[in-house]
Amino acid sequence: MKGVILAGGLGSRLHPLTKITNKHLLPVHSEPMIYYPIKALINAGIEDIMIVTGGNSAGDFLRLLGNGKDFGLKHVNYTYQEGEGGIADALSLVEHFADEEPICVILGDNLIEKNIRKATDEYRAQGGGAKIMLKRVHDPERFGVPELDGDKVLNIEEKPKAPKSDFAVIGIYFYDNSVFDVIRTLVPSGRGELEITDVNNHYIRRGEMTWNELDGWWTDAGTFESLLRASNLVAETGANNL
Ligand code: G1P
Repeated sequence: MKGVILAGGLGSRLHPLTKITNKHLLPVHSEPMIYYPIKALINAGIEDIMIVTGGNSAGDFLRLLGNGKDFGLKHVNYTYQEGEGGIADALSLVEHFADEEPICVILGDNLIEKNIRKATDEYRAQGGGAKIMLKRVHDPERFGVPELDGDKVLNIEEKPKAPKSDFAVIGIYFYDNSVFDVIRTLVPSGRGELEITDVNNHYIRRGEMTWNELDGWWTDAGTFESLLRASNLVAETGANNL
């Protein structure tokens, strides 16, 4: 399995912090934000990693990370997303990198307290399709929200006004190689982006979606409030604990 970190976008919800740099280079407690998803993948045994960046300061990722020596890696792959096409558009850039293998995709502003080893192993055993990870939250309307029927996920709504559960679809996803064909069928949403939620709903309709509940805390870090919360959570417990 290969790993993909999506670290593009303009980070407009964090202006002026992101006026001259990329959101994923901002500090979260003691490290740049991008360090956390890199460690999450490595902790799950995924060491062949592609970073999709874009927007401001894309070159700074190379200066910061190089070939990943600080993480014990021999090599890191990079690619550049032009414009603001959304998460699924960014993902479409890694088709050649995936090279028929399944992928674990993590949004560069998502941090976790523990690890995704169990979900990664279960996805491997699943032998195809997709898997999402869920976490109970107090503000589901900020996220993709699943409608569940026991073990089955029936549908996902992106930032619904009337959420059908109190779970958020967190920014860690597992896909087989058909994800790139799915992305080719998408049309831009109301916010002008190719939505990862539309990708996930495709797999749900095909009956090929499973889910796991994440153990330990999870947060994104794309708003002032969540960026502060991320730093505080890391200070309290550390992140990416095994
Ligand atoms: C994105 C996804 C959303 C998901 C969230 C997790 O939202 O669209 O489904 O719940 O990441 O961080 P965005 O941060 O692009 O608004």
